[in-house]
Amino acid sequence: KAVLGIEGTAWNLSVAIVNEKDVISEATDMYVPPSGGIHPREAAQHHAKYASLMVKKALDEAQEKGIEVSDIDAISFSQGPGLGACLRTVATAARMLAITLDVPLVGVNHCLAHVEVGRWKTPADDPVTLYVSGANSQVLAYRMGKYRVFGETLDIGLGNALDKFARSAGLSHPGGPKIEQLAGQSDNYIPMPYVVKGMDLSFSGLSTAATESLTKYPLEDVCHSLQENAFAMVVEVTERALAHTEKNEVLLAGGVGANARLREMLDIMCEDRGASFYVPEKRFMGDNGAMIAYLGLLMYEAGDTLDIEDSHVNPNFRPDAVDVSWRE
Ligand code: ATP
Ligand code: FE2
Repeated sequence: KAVLGIEGTAWNLSVAIVNEKDVISEATDMYVPPSGGIHPREAAQHHAKYASLMVKKALDEAQEKGIEVSDIDAISFSQGPGLGACLRTVATAARMLAITLDVPLVGVNHCLAHVEVGRWKTPADDPVTLYVSGANSQVLAYRMGKYRVFGETLDIGLGNALDKFARSAGLSHPGGPKIEQLAGQSDNYIPMPYVVKGMDLSFSGLSTAATESLTKYPLEDVCHSLQENAFAMVVEVTERALAHTEKNEVLLAGGVGANARLREMLDIMCEDRGASFYVPEKRFMGDNGAMIAYLGLLMYEAGDTLDIEDSHVNPNFRPDAVDVSWRE
């Protein structure tokens, strides 16, 4: 079986074709805003402009590997969460392809696609997943037919908090990697607001506090402290989810997962608890078409497809709203 999936919840437009074994082809084009700010409409225009080209590239590359258009069994797309204008553009392309090829359409929850691609591409079987990207920060784990959200941000995602601070410090977008590099040059911890409410997180005040400390402390010290503080928060919630669910695996997902210090802190926590820690290859951590195609494949095989008229997008699509059809 082969499924073509389209991801386009935010900046990245990515089309991939996968089968049960592997990614057959993938074509990605990222929208780069002219300035640091958020321009959802321009991102959507970018996706509209490049959708057919990326579909063609993915199909051509698959054909070189012996997979024809007629071998595609279903079309999947990210139904949400994400930017409304971007989601609608991608959904339109997906519907058109499904109708043209006369194959079923599958609507995928973006957060769960991050989890499932990790379960596919690492040995993780039933993990607690820490999903930290620009817009999202969630701790997820499977229980009785649903992925439950054990903790999540109450305001902005961890990546956006890092990027926001970075912009205020005059660093270019995306800020995460630059902060990581500068943080490595300091050992001086400045106290910062540590906000964990129950199992939920808040990063907005932390980002602002980091910006304010720039008037008093060197940039390296602030980067170091911001990272230590924010990562300790997400590690705490992940650890408590592990304890609560009695699971023994942690999976890291999302673009912030590229950070070596975050990985080290999670690794230490897992070691202490006797849990295994899994990180997928980098190409499967940030937003990618392969994860949408892969969860599309699992759902297609479970018969979990959409009628075209029910295929509207959902910018606030919660992972815990999904009845999981593809796992026992
Ligand atoms: P989503 O729609 O899932 O929120 P996204 O568009 O934010 O996705 P991702 O690629 O998952 O895309 O994540 C991008 C974020 O990851 C940015 O905020 C960026 O600063 C952050 N990031 C990337 N590399 C690092 C790093 N080494 N350390 C910390 N943060 C990083
Ligand atoms: Fe994502």
